Amino acid sequence: MQIGSLKLDNPVFLAPMDGITDLAFRLIAKQYGCALVYSEMVSCHGLVHNFEVNRRYLLSHADEKPLAVQLFGADADIMAKAAQICVCSGADLIDINMGCPVKKVVRTGAGSALMRTPKLVEEIVTKIRRVINIPLTVKIRTGWYSEHINAVKIAKIAADAGADAVCIHGRTRMQGFSGCADWEIIAKVKFALDCIVIGNGDIKTAYDAKRMMEQTGCDCLMIGRAARGNPWIFAQIIKYLKNGELPPPAGLAERKAVLLKQFELLNKYYGSHISLLHIRKHLIWYTQSLPYSARLRRLIAHLDTKEKLIQAVNEYWVYLEETVAK
Ligand SMILES: Cc1cc2nc3c(=O)[nH]c(=O)nc-3n(C[C@H](O)[C@H](O)[C@H](O)COP(=O)(O)O)c2cc1C
Repeated sequence: MQIGSLKLDNPVFLAPMDGITDLAFRLIAKQYGCALVYSEMVSCHGLVHNFEVNRRYLLSHADEKPLAVQLFGADADIMAKAAQICVCSGADLIDINMGCPVKKVVRTGAGSALMRTPKLVEEIVTKIRRVINIPLTVKIRTGWYSEHINAVKIAKIAADAGADAVCIHGRTRMQGFSGCADWEIIAKVKFALDCIVIGNGDIKTAYDAKRMMEQTGCDCLMIGRAARGNPWIFAQIIKYLKNGELPPPAGLAERKAVLLKQFELLNKYYGSHISLLHIRKHLIWYTQSLPYSARLRRLIAHLDTKEKLIQAVNEYWVYLEETVAK
């Protein structure tokens, strides 16, 4: 598998997720074999005009490589400058966000609003392509709304302007995250384009991953929500695609070890305040299918130190192991 000059071990990628795919979570996904991890979206203006405040988005580590950094913005010149900053900071691939549905973003013409401005798509991709020599991808939706599906058109414009791959999330902007991802449109994009197509939307299991590849013909897959609290999904998908074997999900001990490792990484890279805020979110995902997890969640909402949180997790796991052993 190769995107531009970037050789990848397999076709299974971690989707960019704002507030989630920080360095700590990317390192965990990588540990389970994910071939390409995407950063949270980063504002091009933030990088160009306020680098000191926004540099944490570019924080990286050799163990997560290769790293795709995702930019959002609607000014082609600023986007190109920001892309150069990312390259200097060690990004291995630049991705352009053309799918974010959030009002604050689309109001500025960025994110999924770009689906309505094909000329600007062409200008942004062309200008970034001119100034970077690492792979460039775009991440689009199917269109702005269901009566205006234009993914094929936008994907072609991006590819003709120099994008090495197109990722498509099978929903319109107006859908947000509701309804189902339309994989037929992903198939249409793949049929119409010569470049690499990355399919995205509603892959929850290894079976879904295989089905998406079969139904759409896409070359690669991107997993978002299903990876939260469940990073071993990458190992499961990779193995299942390779030889039809499905490794079991992580057992209790592994689940706890990964949760605590992610917490440790968050502490190491982002400090105690941010790490406590972030791990509370992730803890909900890591424990959502476990008995009495609501009690743990209520408890940790009030814990204000790393040590107290680790103790609460340890105590909960002792309880779990005793319950499971009965
Ligand atoms: C909390 C959250 C944050 C997201 N942030 C981004 C983002 O920064 N950039 C982006 O392109 N997509 C973002 N997405 C969309 C995902 O990358 C992905 O396209 C979407 O969740 C569909 O894939 P899934 O069904 O595998 O989750 C985000 C999704 C969620 C749930």
